[in-house]
Amino acid sequence: MTTDRTVQARTNMVEELTRDGWLQTPAWQDAFRAVPRHLFLPRFFRLAPDQQRHEAIDQEHLDWPALIYANTVLATQLDSDDARWQSAREDGPVEGTATSSSTQPSLMASMLEALDIHAGQRVLEVGTGTGYNAALLCHRLGDEQVTSVEYDPTVAEHARHALDEAGYHPTLVTGDGADGHPTGAPYDRLIATYSVSAIPPAWLNQVRPSGVLVASLYSDLGVGLMVRLVVDDSGAHGHLLPDSAYFMPTRTHARADTDALVKTASKQPTETARSSTLPEPISDTAPGWTALAGLLMPKVARLDILREDGAVQWLVHPDGSWAYYQATDRQVEQGGSRRLWNEVEAAHDRWQQLDHPARERFGLTVLPDGTQRVWLDHEANVVHS
Ligand SMILES: C[S@@+](CC[C@H](N)C(=O)[O-])C[C@H]1O[C@@H](n2cnc3c(N)ncnc32)[C@H](O)[C@@H]1O
Repeated sequence: MTTDRTVQARTNMVEELTRDGWLQTPAWQDAFRAVPRHLFLPRFFRLAPDQQRHEAIDQEHLDWPALIYANTVLATQLDSDDARWQSAREDGPVEGTATSSSTQPSLMASMLEALDIHAGQRVLEVGTGTGYNAALLCHRLGDEQVTSVEYDPTVAEHARHALDEAGYHPTLVTGDGADGHPTGAPYDRLIATYSVSAIPPAWLNQVRPSGVLVASLYSDLGVGLMVRLVVDDSGAHGHLLPDSAYFMPTRTHARADTDALVKTASKQPTETARSSTLPEPISDTAPGWTALAGLLMPKVARLDILREDGAVQWLVHPDGSWAYYQATDRQVEQGGSRRLWNEVEAAHDRWQQLDHPARERFGLTVLPDGTQRVWLDHEANVVHS
């Protein structure tokens, strides 16, 4: 009975992902049909009705096959603490930030399609999480070809158990994905399912020349970028992918304390006030200019607040620079050593001068010393270095 329900739910999910263009190749459609996502999600969280806290779900929930085979991300751990699930189970919904999850299937599909794998290739995944993505890779390539690295030992243990149960046995490593896994190098492909603010040098070293790397780039500005790079002796080069992706940042990343920076900024005197020239505030649904702003303004964090009198947006940088924008009258106030709103406007102006390119026309070159260059269409057309 349970099996029937999961098979039907899985079939529906694959049909939806195929119909919506996320799953494009029959081999990936077969893999998503064959690998049971529910084995990797014996327990998870979903947002409580207040849309703030998280409630604990397991297979006793009447709707669990539908929940698991919906095209949604499912958090499996909050605040790096495995005990939170049990607390939510016993005492009701809990607050917290997801530190491990099973990625939204459409996003998994688009990354795996972009990875362009072929029989016989060896893949390094960083960010094992539940193990579901590793299982899909094993299904396509065979256990021996897949290595996956997870930072959190408890998460890694759950993944090992689920993979065993599903019948897959990739090489599982517990450690920092930024180091890759040199013992298994060189790899033909690398897929990162947590985000990084810069591509770690080990990834370039461990992917063979003409190998492919698909990763998501963390931007404090809140713009979710994905990149597909081809490695050669001089570094790695490639375009942004058209879709947004909001992967959790690497566990080793010290996140800017945006709330504290905003609190400090709100006590500072305004140094300039004027109308914004931007047609709209920063958002990930805005066209390619926000991607450019995200690439050009590292460490600038954004906080959106919905107030009764309209939306406001804060930009803050750890050096104390800040900008405050009010949507109702499009007024911007700024202070500190940098004029952050001017910089966003400059990114928008640059994007207009470039004739409004879509985000996938932007490309990135990463050199072995970590230097990153942003270009448009081809590498000679440098936008920023
Ligand atoms: C979105 S989840 C991965 C989803 C996973 N691929 C799946 O199929 O379920 C991101 C995972 O990356 C892990 N992670 C974060 N930073 C890491 C790091 N520096 N090295 C290795 N794993 C890391 C997190 O612990 C989390 O489990």
